[in-house]
Amino acid sequence: MEFLDLPPMLGAAGRVRLPGSKSISNRTLLLAALAEGETDIRDLLASDDVERMLDALRALGVAWSREGASDNYRVRGAGGAFPVKQADLFLGNAGTAFRPLTAALALSGGEYRLSGVPRMHERPIGDLVDGLRQLGADIAYTGNAGFPPLHIRPAAIRPGGVVRVRGDVSSQFLTALLMALPLTGVETTIEVVGELISKPYIAITLALMSRFGVAVRREGWERFVVPGGARYRSPGTIFVEGDASSASYFLALGAIGGGPVRVEGVGRDSIQGDVRFAEALAQMGAVIEMGDNWIEAKASASGLKGITLDCNHIPDAAMTLATTALFAQGPTTLSNIASWRVKETDRIAAMAKELRKLGVEVEEGGDYIRVTPAKVLSSLPEGIDTYDDHRIAMCFSLAAFGTALRINDPKCVGKTFPDYFERLASVTQAVPVIAIDGPSASGKGTVAARVAAALGWHYLDSGALYRLTALAARRAGVAWDDEPGVAAIAAKLDVVFEGESIRLAGEEVGEAIRTEEMGTGASKVAALPAVRQALLFRQRLFRRAPGLVGDGRDMGSVVFPDAKTKVFLTASVEIRADRRYKQLIGKGIGATIQPILQDLRERDERDSQRSVAPLRQSEDAELLDTSALTIEEAVARVLGWAKSTS
Ligand code: DC
Repeated sequence: MEFLDLPPMLGAAGRVRLPGSKSISNRTLLLAALAEGETDIRDLLASDDVERMLDALRALGVAWSREGASDNYRVRGAGGAFPVKQADLFLGNAGTAFRPLTAALALSGGEYRLSGVPRMHERPIGDLVDGLRQLGADIAYTGNAGFPPLHIRPAAIRPGGVVRVRGDVSSQFLTALLMALPLTGVETTIEVVGELISKPYIAITLALMSRFGVAVRREGWERFVVPGGARYRSPGTIFVEGDASSASYFLALGAIGGGPVRVEGVGRDSIQGDVRFAEALAQMGAVIEMGDNWIEAKASASGLKGITLDCNHIPDAAMTLATTALFAQGPTTLSNIASWRVKETDRIAAMAKELRKLGVEVEEGGDYIRVTPAKVLSSLPEGIDTYDDHRIAMCFSLAAFGTALRINDPKCVGKTFPDYFERLASVTQAVPVIAIDGPSASGKGTVAARVAAALGWHYLDSGALYRLTALAARRAGVAWDDEPGVAAIAAKLDVVFEGESIRLAGEEVGEAIRTEEMGTGASKVAALPAVRQALLFRQRLFRRAPGLVGDGRDMGSVVFPDAKTKVFLTASVEIRADRRYKQLIGKGIGATIQPILQDLRERDERDSQRSVAPLRQSEDAELLDTSALTIEEAVARVLGWAKSTS
């Protein structure tokens, strides 16, 4: 499976221009398609769900064009029902395309088949179909009753009177009916059965319908009257607001990571309910400021505290509160979120499972979740699963404030925010790393440890991990060239580093890994790709605030490619052999120079010729030849480079 390892974050500040709102983009496209006249849509969201809608509209005979590679589109409206009367539409996992198209097509007098990905076929649509059948629509379930896929056939539509639709599973059913009813030209009243959830999304629907010339009379949130003779007319040009749900991640970043972080594209006057996420964040203790077209969040001196909140009005952004809660004092309870269960995945179950992987206490119920933060977040190489759900991937990225974090299948963010992780990196400051690579016995370990001590940073002796793997393999009777066997040992390596002490399976290791034999073993197991893979995330976990100095062969090239300071530390092989000889003699271990020289040459050869992560100076690394330098001089050089890049 593809994964992305996020570095731990120290802080966040900056500005982000938000991608367009998914809800507004897909509603606007459909309304423009049904309207009379041409509509210029600016800042349309570029994402998977919008692609599904655009493809469907084209298949239904609606002409649209894109202005170059921009986010500006022109749609030539059909001025009523879709011109193409027979089509098979595949709509992926795009609920915002599936539901409204179902309603519009059911009233269009054609024969259509609508399907999606397997998860789409598990998301209920029965309440909408029931509503449309009251109008005379002919819709059949071709899979399970109550769920897509659907088969729509031409039917005699009987508009007028009252249509009843349930509002307590998904507000998208009501949205779909509202947007489709003007196709009938007859005044029709919709009555909502059960408590309407996600009301702000209905407000978006009504606001956009009104931009396209249809004013719905709303009586509370129970009755909606779509006037007779109403026809959609293009408003000319329409701007898509930034996505308020996408804003939530960045506002939370500002609240957790210091800030200020400013999002541009939504503000005080937004028609999207999710802007009220900012109020929830303020309730947790963040400082929020708003302008017409921007919102800004920063941390307050007192930090964040847990809250109890009815999240009916912000169902999507509420997921961001569940991970913001990791950095608050005390538990956070999010209630009235039953709709999470029928989204891209069962979001209550998924959030609970993944939060527990972080060592957090989670209580889940039918329509609520309670998160009690842990003192220290745990992070596993198995990673956070994302269930093909963009919001799970994005909201869990916040956990990287506590630890390095692996996110599985990160590309699922493409549903609404394809470049989310690049934007995340642009407003966050990762824990800094100084990567020192070089050949055996070059003195890099000594230099790295001293640099770490001088800065008060953590230190990773990555060679020790390979040496420990070789030692553990030897003790388990596994040959050093048995790749799967050694990789399994590396993956489960039970090792604790504490200052100078290293414990393997609870036992002090002492000098057992420093022998020439274990050096050779390490060099052999280090050439096995599966072993390197097994140790990769474990090494990244050493990156913790305030910083890390790592030494090895591939610190700068593979393990920490984003390290600000990279050093290739070396010395001539004769000097290195001499240093190793003196070191051994100093420890009272008998040695002669020739075999050491020979062994170093062989090891250099193996480390630099292997196919994975070979030892070599990368282009962006500073060369530090210590043949003629003292340790103090080498340390000073590295500290100087680190200072100039910070
Ligand atoms: O730095 P050292 O001598 O303790 O390393 C022991 C062996 O481990 C060395 O021969 C190569 C390997 N190694 C590696 O391949 N990658 C690292 N990052 C560190 C060490």
